[in-house]
Amino acid sequence: MAFEVPPLPYAYDALEPFIDKETMTLHHDKHHAAYVANLNAAIEKHPELAGKSADDLVRDLNAVPDDIRTAVRNNGGGHVNHSMFWAIMGPKRGGVPQGKIASAISGAFGDFEAFKKLFADTGLKQFGSGWVWLVRAKDGKLSVISTANQDNPMSAGLTPIMGNDVWEHAYYLKYQNRRADYLGAWWNVVDWDAVTRRLDAAER
Ligand SMILES: [Fe+2]
Repeated sequence: MAFEVPPLPYAYDALEPFIDKETMTLHHDKHHAAYVANLNAAIEKHPELAGKSADDLVRDLNAVPDDIRTAVRNNGGGHVNHSMFWAIMGPKRGGVPQGKIASAISGAFGDFEAFKKLFADTGLKQFGSGWVWLVRAKDGKLSVISTANQDNPMSAGLTPIMGNDVWEHAYYLKYQNRRADYLGAWWNVVDWDAVTRRLDAAER
């Protein structure tokens, strides 16, 4: 069973004006689709891996055969990362998180504003392409990290609760070189209910 790009759960223009329709279209239909195609091409060489989820593959890259490990790291990561990304955004979202996720953020970072600043600064400082993440360690501790390229925190034993894509393909058409503006605008599309569900799942 080949991997597939999950359909975008809203219209391509639904995140306007914060993320533009053309960026969403290219990002989902071209970039994410390419990661999936390349992942499938790699897995085809090793039928014994059929049945493993993309999460399984990325979580334990050492179990992936040498000849496709880099391809799985990059393209499996690209598939997992983008699948999360579409799911934690939505139209008419944003605002201040409530309930459990708010408490978790305050407990770890002081308050929501401090968390936002740390997250945006970490994304801004990621040199070149990569992602900025809120992650949960096995002991429950939350932290903000960045990863290069399509590396996913699961490969380092961490559970990604939310992440933002800081590859130029995520923002360049609208924001050009202004990554900080993109990182600031992104809070308007974060679906905190979806993020809370990921925290719940991580705790189970
Ligand atoms: Fe991307």
